[in-house]
Amino acid sequence: MVTLICATHRPQNQTTAVVNAYAKILDEMGVDYKKLDMVELPKDFPFYGAFGNPSPQLSELAEEKINNSKKFIVIAPEYNGSFPGIFKTFIDIVPPNYWNFKNVALVGVASGRAGNLRGLDHLTNIFNYLKAEVYSNKIPISGIDGLLDANQELMDEETLAVLKEQAINFLK
Ligand SMILES: Cc1cc2nc3c(=O)[nH]c(=O)nc-3n(C[C@H](O)[C@H](O)[C@H](O)COP(=O)(O)O)c2cc1C
Repeated sequence: MVTLICATHRPQNQTTAVVNAYAKILDEMGVDYKKLDMVELPKDFPFYGAFGNPSPQLSELAEEKINNSKKFIVIAPEYNGSFPGIFKTFIDIVPPNYWNFKNVALVGVASGRAGNLRGLDHLTNIFNYLKAEVYSNKIPISGIDGLLDANQELMDEETLAVLKEQAINFLK
């Protein structure tokens, strides 16, 4: 199973448009996947039963969407030159062995010019520390504001093509 992760919980975030476009690609490929959005996490998750003793709700979610998956596609916006803190907090609370010997593909999303390249490098270091392999073809999406249509959907052909190429080769 594959888990497609939206690494932010910001209301009206634009990363969701990329997650939805990626989901459409996976649907077309007939891939068995689940979505995990940081907005699904229990509101008190950083405090309640954290660090080795997660709450039952968080344990169930981590079991279903992290432990049960072999591959992860992480779509992460750029916040202050890195990926969102909520996703690091989530990583810190999930049992580390849930990530061991698994595969991760990374996509960055930014309104600026860097496409969250730094955040993708930070995530690479963390996942490698967790003994997960990170796919070499990381996709930085810059200037996201100009790539969405009036319905806030990602319809830019060039971006969709690179995402599809990543999905096909990563899932091989
Ligand atoms: C807390 C915060 C920090 C941000 N820092 C950066 C940044 O360092 N570089 C950048 O290009 N965009 C930055 N942005 C803008 C985001 O890249 C932009 O909102 C983009 O749409 C992706 O984030 P979103 O999914 O939350 O919409 C930041 C946005 C927020 C909310």
